[in-house]
Amino acid sequence: MTAKARHFLDLDGIDEQDLRGMIDVAAAMKRGEAGMDRPLQGKFLAMIFEKPSTRTRVSFEVGMKQLGGDVVVLNGNDLQLGRGESVADTARVLSRYVDCIMMRTYEPEKISEMAEYASVPVINGLTDKTHPCQLMADVLTYEERRGPIRGRTVAWSGDGNNMAASWIHASVKFGFSLRIAAPRELSPDPALLEWANANGGSVTLMHDPQAAVLGADCVVTDSWVSMGDDEASRHNMLAPFRVDEALLSKAKDDVAFLHCLPAHRGEEVTAEVIDGPRSLVWDEAENRLHTQKAILAWCLA
Ligand code: CP
Ligand code: NVA
Repeated sequence: MTAKARHFLDLDGIDEQDLRGMIDVAAAMKRGEAGMDRPLQGKFLAMIFEKPSTRTRVSFEVGMKQLGGDVVVLNGNDLQLGRGESVADTARVLSRYVDCIMMRTYEPEKISEMAEYASVPVINGLTDKTHPCQLMADVLTYEERRGPIRGRTVAWSGDGNNMAASWIHASVKFGFSLRIAAPRELSPDPALLEWANANGGSVTLMHDPQAAVLGADCVVTDSWVSMGDDEASRHNMLAPFRVDEALLSKAKDDVAFLHCLPAHRGEEVTAEVIDGPRSLVWDEAENRLHTQKAILAWCLA
């Protein structure tokens, strides 16, 4: 039974046609052309949060309910998991009550263990290493405002964090070039770059944001201090990677600016950029809803 559950763990492990299909379904759902017949009626989603969330929590709950299902929201500390019950046992038990499990946690190994022992689909709602649900929203947002992302150039300027890792996965699966500008100390795991370039991707690691952004179609950044990070010395290291108008002006005239949020104006991005005409961040936040409905429908098909 376990082998048959369709987990949404990380983009690198999901077939590219499936990912493309989910983007298409999400767009159709957004237009009101799919998912209107409450296809998940009677289904329950358990959401486990060991880290805070605004967008993931609300968009999964609203999305599940719009599809006819319902949710149980679980704070990690309220579960016996918080006092030592194993992930494996939690997975086995929750699988007897609910039809799907979404988990946000620190260690990616916990999500893998949940998926190994759950007999229902498991969705990765962010770990220290990746944030795949966000990338689905980001791809939909870019494409609905600027056309197909395949063949385009995306520039990342900032911490080589969980979001940067999922952008690396997405660049291979959706066929765009990715230039990552990050401080040397905060560069993404070299194994990710090796994986991308061995799988037909075009991912370049740089340390100069000006060079990374030059002529780019899309510019992306993220918080300097992710959930669970130690703040010390990050601000000094990341200040040269701030996305301001001067940096954005090196990109194409119709560049799209993306940020998964929450944002810290004056740190990783200036107010002028994030609140300016090239920023798509509110559509991006909205698209969490539509893309996660498509992910839920795919997992529970
Ligand atoms: N972008 C994102 O995942 O936001 P939350 O942390 O609010 O869920
Ligand atoms: N990199 C950020 C993303 C938040 C959605 C974090 O992990 O805190």
